[in-house]
Amino acid sequence: MASLIHSLLLCVIVLSASLSHSHAQLTQDFYNNVCPKALSTIKSIVSKAIKREPRMGASLLRLHFHDCFVNGCDGSVLLDDTTNFTGEKTAPANANSIRGFEVVDQIKTQVDRVCKGNVVSCADILAIAARDSVSILGGPKYKVLVGRRDARTASFDNARRNLPPPFFSFTQLLSNFQSHGLDLKDLVVLSAGHTLGVARCSTFRTRIYNDTNIDTKFATTLQRNCPQSGGDDNLKGLDKTPNFFDNAYFKALLTNKGLLHSDQELFGGGNSDSDDLVKYYSRYPSAFRNDFGSSMIKMGNMNPLTGTDGEIRANCRLVN
Ligand code: HEM
Ligand SMILES: *[C@@H]1O[C@H](CO)[C@@H](O)[C@H](O)[C@H]1NC(C)=O
Ligand SMILES: *[C@@H]1O[C@H](CO)[C@@H](O)[C@H](O)[C@H]1NC(C)=O
Repeated sequence: MASLIHSLLLCVIVLSASLSHSHAQLTQDFYNNVCPKALSTIKSIVSKAIKREPRMGASLLRLHFHDCFVNGCDGSVLLDDTTNFTGEKTAPANANSIRGFEVVDQIKTQVDRVCKGNVVSCADILAIAARDSVSILGGPKYKVLVGRRDARTASFDNARRNLPPPFFSFTQLLSNFQSHGLDLKDLVVLSAGHTLGVARCSTFRTRIYNDTNIDTKFATTLQRNCPQSGGDDNLKGLDKTPNFFDNAYFKALLTNKGLLHSDQELFGGGNSDSDDLVKYYSRYPSAFRNDFGSSMIKMGNMNPLTGTDGEIRANCRLVN
């Protein structure tokens, strides 16, 4: 009898624990009552930042991606290191690379002012700023879902393990995306986030000197501003039009002109489904726009903290 009660009790505990962890859904209208001006405030700051420096749109898009791929979209990427943890900012994919923190701070300050309090999470700011960046630079204005809360911790090790490096093969890229609940189509579509922004010489040097699946003239031209040694931080657009959201990224892959090794892996990397999608999106830019929106929403839904989990940070760089 005692053991029956015991197992019933255990059942209740397990059930309620699993219910409280079944995450509440993100919604479009989360801020409609609590701060109706939150989204327009964010958009206006993103817009000014992009006018000042067009690359900022790319940088904000990438911050959201790097946030979501490490412990879910929980603002963890924004946390500075503390005595309690080493955060994500110094992990290989992030160090001397991710940027846009000052714009995020500016958004946070302004949104708190307009909302008369600390009600908008840093994780949501990243999701909204990424969407606005894409749309301002000519991409789709997809529906961004909100209601995320912020993590109280961040992990260097999780960032090191979960962010894909540019030397990955197709198989490695796909299993990385699958480990995040994303599929082959998401991999191809989201990689084309590289329609915006730039990369440092150090991230594509091996490709332009040693890869064989690269257009010879393209490689030679790139080598001028990316020597065998030195010039690590010299920048090159990830596609021909780094300040404009278009499908030039896919067209380049068809002729072996992907900048990163990981980009070119999507075409001719041994997977025919991926090859077909690259061809399809190079022909149908509007299909790419639509699918990019859907995959961004899917990525933005990865393990958010909701309800009473986590917190709403007062300063995006620090735990409350
Ligand atoms: C598929 C695996 C991916 C790999 C291996 C990868 C790798 C990289 C690398 C090496 C850079 C250059 C960083 C630097 O030189 O400092 C970069 C830049 C960038 N990535 Fe990715 N990336 C991937 C997927 C994505 C996704 C899914 C998105 C967004 C949806 C994205 C958005 C960007 C953007 C916008 C930039 C330019 C940032 C700027 O100019 O500040 N990437 N990526
Ligand atoms: C470290 O963790 C302790 C215990 O949770 C907390 O009291 C302290 O404020 C934290 N320190 C920092 C710098 O976050
Ligand atoms: C190219 O490959 C050779 C032989 O493996 C290696 O020594 C060299 O460092 C590589 N060059 C670059 C730029 O990665």
